[in-house]
Amino acid sequence: MIRIAHISDTHITSDAAYKGYAFDLIAEEINRGDFDFVIHTGDVTNQGLREEYERASYELKKIRKPIVVLPGNHDVRNVGYKLFEKFIGPPNGVFEFQEGVLIWVDSTIPDLSDGRIGEYKFRWLRGKLEEYSSRRIKIVAAHHHLIPLPDTGRERNVLYNAGDVLDLFLRHEVTLYTCGHKHVPNLYRVEDLVVDNAGCTSCRKTRAGDVNSYNVITLYDDGRMEVRIRRVTGDEFRKEHRAVKPKLFIPKGKRLVRVVQMSESNVSDRVYFRKKVLEHAIRMINEKLKPDLVIHNGDLVDAGIERYYAKAYEFYERIKARKLIVPGHNDITYLGHDLFKEYFGRPNTVEIGKFAFIPVQSAQYETPIGVVGRMGQRILRDLLREHDDKFTTVVMHHNIIPVPRSREIGFLEDAGDVLKMITEENANLVLTGHGGNAFGVKVEDSPIVNAGSVSWELHRNPYGNTFNVIDIYTHIVVAFEVQATWGSGRLLGIWKVKKNLNP
Ligand SMILES: [Fe+2]
Ligand SMILES: [Fe+2]
Repeated sequence: MIRIAHISDTHITSDAAYKGYAFDLIAEEINRGDFDFVIHTGDVTNQGLREEYERASYELKKIRKPIVVLPGNHDVRNVGYKLFEKFIGPPNGVFEFQEGVLIWVDSTIPDLSDGRIGEYKFRWLRGKLEEYSSRRIKIVAAHHHLIPLPDTGRERNVLYNAGDVLDLFLRHEVTLYTCGHKHVPNLYRVEDLVVDNAGCTSCRKTRAGDVNSYNVITLYDDGRMEVRIRRVTGDEFRKEHRAVKPKLFIPKGKRLVRVVQMSESNVSDRVYFRKKVLEHAIRMINEKLKPDLVIHNGDLVDAGIERYYAKAYEFYERIKARKLIVPGHNDITYLGHDLFKEYFGRPNTVEIGKFAFIPVQSAQYETPIGVVGRMGQRILRDLLREHDDKFTTVVMHHNIIPVPRSREIGFLEDAGDVLKMITEENANLVLTGHGGNAFGVKVEDSPIVNAGSVSWELHRNPYGNTFNVIDIYTHIVVAFEVQATWGSGRLLGIWKVKKNLNP
């Protein structure tokens, strides 16, 4: 058994912003506990100043356990990254323990709050994961969060290349990712990776009236992992996870529903629009795939003008199956907001047998950044509850999990709150279509599948223009992407269905 104390965001300063009593309380608790080591995921100091580092190195010595400390965005302010190495230690490194390895990475960008694991560091990290691939426990620690966090206001400070980092972790079967930064303690299971966010250990800036906290991680010999969020008030939140491996699900029984998921057609007369590819995709859908429902996840047209809408309408009239089309940000530029309604109507919930597909408007005028909004979230939550007896699918344009090969500029501004609500309400599937790359992962019990672009040359998918096919059987959901020109398929994911879908 390995037990780790995870602290973060101490924001040590010489003024009242630093809550020394909270730090002392937690340090005492750690010293009394049976911890193998401690991880501090950054923002050790508040401004990266010399006096703060001097005090920090004194404060950290109060913890009498092996400790790994990495820098946060506050530590690198005022060229504090030079002082970090002098007073604290190396910003990147490896800590080995029985059966396991902890790799820590500096994700900061001088003078910015945002995070990045740049090209050289990414290669270093990948190299380390390869080197330690035989270890049973693989932990990566950095300051910035990987998955959008709830209660953080405008959710914009994920790592620039969070999608690539997440993809790397899943490929290398990383057991645990620990981070801090937003002062919100949180736990997510992304496939078999546990994403553990620490709150703030000793600063005043907690969110939504929360108190100081730290996390206790226990890795048992039988593969179970338990994480407890321990608040200074004595409250505790506990969650346990056991990896499901090997992941082999064989479709049993009848296929209940088949959905084709398309996105970013970007119908237009620009050279980037591949008309023939779209025509071919539609032929394949009609003649070979014969789905029960075709979903278009936004950016049907490249710009919201009448001529493009008329053209798009012509294409989509050819699809014989039932359709559910939600707008993307391109669709509502110029007069698009009105044209979308005129040509395709306001999207409504589609019910097919035991399945409910719930559309959400996330696009805004003239910006790739999406928002659902607090009222939109409440409406979606009520719809999920109303259809609780059905297999619920949320359909929207903006991705709520980071997508590989993309810089997260078009993220949903309230992605953290939306993701939390969706997973808490146990949505059975989420379909999104922003970012130009196909990707599928399960967060908690909700598989989330993003579609690449079906006919736009400006995409980020190494597999080319594709659309997704989602087959739902009584016990599993299978998602694969289909190359829009050749028709070959590639598996995106297979996930167990928790809902009883037996007829
Ligand atoms: Fe912080
Ligand atoms: Fe931070």
